[in-house]
Amino acid sequence: MTTVDTATDPSPTGATGAFPDAFLWGVAFAANQVEGGFDEGGKGLSQADVIPFRVASDYVDITSLMEASAASIAQAVATPGTDGYPKRRGSDFYHRWESDIDLFAEMGLKALRMSIAWSRIFPNGDDLEPNEEGLLFYERLFLRLREKGIAPVVTMSHYEMPLNLVTEYGGWTNRAVVGLFERYARTIATRYQGLVHYWLTFNEINTTVIEPYTGGGVIAREPDPGVDPRQASYQALHHQFVASASATRIVHDVDPSAQVGCMLARMSHYPASSDPADVVKAQFDNNMNLFHSDVQVRGRYSGHVRRFWRDQGIDVRMEPGDDELLAANTVDFLSFSYYMSLVSSVAPEKYGATGGNLFSTIKNPHLSTTEWGWHLDPEGLRYVLNDLWDRYQVPLFIVENGLGATDVLTGSPADPTMGAPDTRRVHDPYRIDYFVQHLRQVREAIADGVNLLGYTAWGGLDIVSASTSQMTKRYGVIYVDADDDGRGSFDRIRKDSFYWYKRLVDTNGEVLDELMSQKSD
Ligand code: BG6
Repeated sequence: MTTVDTATDPSPTGATGAFPDAFLWGVAFAANQVEGGFDEGGKGLSQADVIPFRVASDYVDITSLMEASAASIAQAVATPGTDGYPKRRGSDFYHRWESDIDLFAEMGLKALRMSIAWSRIFPNGDDLEPNEEGLLFYERLFLRLREKGIAPVVTMSHYEMPLNLVTEYGGWTNRAVVGLFERYARTIATRYQGLVHYWLTFNEINTTVIEPYTGGGVIAREPDPGVDPRQASYQALHHQFVASASATRIVHDVDPSAQVGCMLARMSHYPASSDPADVVKAQFDNNMNLFHSDVQVRGRYSGHVRRFWRDQGIDVRMEPGDDELLAANTVDFLSFSYYMSLVSSVAPEKYGATGGNLFSTIKNPHLSTTEWGWHLDPEGLRYVLNDLWDRYQVPLFIVENGLGATDVLTGSPADPTMGAPDTRRVHDPYRIDYFVQHLRQVREAIADGVNLLGYTAWGGLDIVSASTSQMTKRYGVIYVDADDDGRGSFDRIRKDSFYWYKRLVDTNGEVLDELMSQKSD
């Protein structure tokens, strides 16, 4: 790891602790969780459209929530409509995007992190020609964002690929998918040249080895006698790295001014004790998370992961030229999600466990947790920012951070016949507090000299949860009036955090010096 002397480091932020003038304040969401319209506009079925809603008692561990089998996919394909498949309806953004963008503009946002649904552009993934209706949908959206002065930060693949590539190709395990992704990347980079300046290739690319279906379209749980399921995951991941490097080259060729970033779910591991064995275990776990950004930022696999493969008998097939492609097409910036820190120990059975969306961890006695059992660790965000900056020396971008919570809607909608106004409100001081605590630490990191491009809060609107498919696990600063079964008006209601976030943007972070939030009434 390179350690930087921040006293002499020429950080573009000036290391004053204030947010830079061009700081990209925004919100973030993904097509598969927000759009809906799963069978409209020529869109094909995607890997997310076949994930059913499951109540907590239906699963034994967190991974089974995000996995699929050939049988579950066949059953889903035979089921029409959106009942039981919440990601098919999302938050109805596909039909309400114009008024939703108006709400983002009202907040004064500078950036919207979103993703393009690959299955809207190439419904089957292997089509020779793109679907013009899908291309037009995003073109209109980007034009509208430009009118409002909001920069799109666009993920090419956020837990979403055409289902046909899963069932007929084996997802990312198949090298042929690299070429299909290149076609997709070239199509969107060309069509949206001048409209999109910031591109991300794969969302949380480290998910592929944790949740192979969600991250890589791989049905890894199906028994394949004699084959370690991790073999398929790491092979799929290598193909994604190659595809990501190729997409980076394509974007740079098409538009040399565009910036391409990788995207990592940064899971920092603390040792459970000062026992050197725990410290080395935490270092190992951190390196197994960071090797993903090593490949995309440094342009090569680390010794840590190569040794892991050797020790585990995992044999990742690489083609001649892959190493050179990875080395020559590193990213311009590193974006990441941050929700929590984790704890490592050589003897985890000594400690209690807590939750997370990708996997559970040892409980940290110094931290409280969310309703879903995720560690709350604002200071860990400062640690992560410094650590990533020291290691890579490329601009960073926090593209996901936010609180999933149960919100309570009060009041009633307007009744024009009675002349009654809309009195619906959501008071969410806990979410404002979450932002305050985390962003104060972000400010500390900027003062430490970290070069940070922006912060996009997850998810802007309430959206369908990636792991639990719940609507009622709410992340937005804008409430969406819908429940887990899709019942409700889907009306948008500004939460207290909406007004607070607007002031955050208006004051470029100065609102963080205030003690507590204001309510809307
Ligand atoms: C991130 C994903 O891991 O976590 C998002 O990129 C997801 O898609 C977010 O929504 C929160 O997780 P969850 O499972 O609570 O929706």
